[in-house]
Amino acid sequence: MDTIIEPFRIKSVEPIQLTSRAERERLIQDAHYNLFNLHADDVIIDLLTDSGTSAMSAAQWAGLMQGNESYAGSPSYFRFEEAVKDLMPFEHVIPTHQGRAAERILMGLVAGPEAKIPSNTHFDTTRANIEATGAEALDLVIEAGRDPDRKHPFKGNMDLDRLAALLEEHADRVPLVMLTVTNNTGGGQPVSIANIRGAKALCDEHDVPLFLDACRFAENAYFIKEREDGYGSQSVESIVREMFSHVDGMTMSAKKDALVNIGGWLALNDDAWAREARNQLILTEGFPTYGGLAGRDLEAIAVGLQEIVDEDYLEYRMASTRYLGEALTEMGVPIVQPVGGHAVYVDAKRLLPHIDPLDYPGQALAVALYTTGGIRGVEIGSVMFGRQPDGSEEPADQELLRLAIPRRVYTQSHVDYVIECFENVYERRDELCGYEITEEPPQLRHFTAQFRPKEPEVVHRETET
Ligand code: F0G
Repeated sequence: MDTIIEPFRIKSVEPIQLTSRAERERLIQDAHYNLFNLHADDVIIDLLTDSGTSAMSAAQWAGLMQGNESYAGSPSYFRFEEAVKDLMPFEHVIPTHQGRAAERILMGLVAGPEAKIPSNTHFDTTRANIEATGAEALDLVIEAGRDPDRKHPFKGNMDLDRLAALLEEHADRVPLVMLTVTNNTGGGQPVSIANIRGAKALCDEHDVPLFLDACRFAENAYFIKEREDGYGSQSVESIVREMFSHVDGMTMSAKKDALVNIGGWLALNDDAWAREARNQLILTEGFPTYGGLAGRDLEAIAVGLQEIVDEDYLEYRMASTRYLGEALTEMGVPIVQPVGGHAVYVDAKRLLPHIDPLDYPGQALAVALYTTGGIRGVEIGSVMFGRQPDGSEEPADQELLRLAIPRRVYTQSHVDYVIECFENVYERRDELCGYEITEEPPQLRHFTAQFRPKEPEVVHRETET
């Protein structure tokens, strides 16, 4: 059969509150044109993030009832630890409330003012946790990974020549090397086994450990199965085990590929680092057998880890992201190619060439999609990255709108609706205007900045819903 179906039935539903276009125009104005300020009830299809937005399975909900809330030595912790070690056989598994807590603890241990920490591309919380220690965060993704149009099968790969040069010159200042799988900031692009192996060989030459930021490890493994020579007949589970067998540790946000709404962990082999990490954990997260989570959350992760490597699930997951990406491409909407695992990244700079990068084309597109159809995406461009430490503004490298797909939440008709809204926006793309910022905080401004359209708004045709 050619039709790839959602490999689940829906047993519990969450109503979507429909709004009219006129209502949405008022709501977005009241939110100062910042989609983070909207009430989620006023969003019809929420593609802001794939993080913590998964639908849990009946088995996960049942698992919650097994949660044991003992402060120390909870059996839920041991079930969680066993499920993690089954796929990621590290000596020490340290639960945290989410990914950035694992990053903060790890970077607090190993980084510091002299340190340099390379990755293919650090996610923003990882970069922030590195920089908060005074260290330097370096992005060494391959050249193709910076070009939205290049169709490389593993655009998330690390540039091993640049890594070799860095280690040659500064190995004593590199406490560890990271690889983000998949590479979220670069468009949800995968890293190959060959690249993980190559990075590990370089790290071994200089006695530097290699860690994975493994949030979307199962999606990465599925791409390896589909695209890397020699892996087509291997199970995703065995590919996952191989990915982790080449590295010394990992940070994880369980809010992605553990199919839960909260949680994370740090796992590693080094006994001394693990001891210190657990001491730090106790300061801010909790005792090492719960680490900022409830016992029931650990149970849900343990079940989620078994479900995420199911190949029928992964086939559907990749097909649904690809379905949206291909429809947009066919329409003429420029997107980062090839389509990533968890999201479609629209190139707003090329879609709206009449809007100057510092008039925020990604934001203009985000607002237009919301008013047209109640769809919420997130700008990844000059709003997010344009403000410099001295308060000046520089355009970001790219002006993107990310449409992230929550796991097991939306059906194909929801995606068809998104495509139809895009058709409407695409037809009147020349009418969209830029935005200016009227208020902003000094850091991480995209969360709270307020905007104003640069031109009086065009009155749009009333559309359905
Ligand atoms: N690493 C990557 C690659 C991520 O995508 C995220 C979160 C984190 C680390 C941090 O994990 O949120 O559990 O603290 N990404 C979310 C997103 C927020 O929308 O892409 P966290």
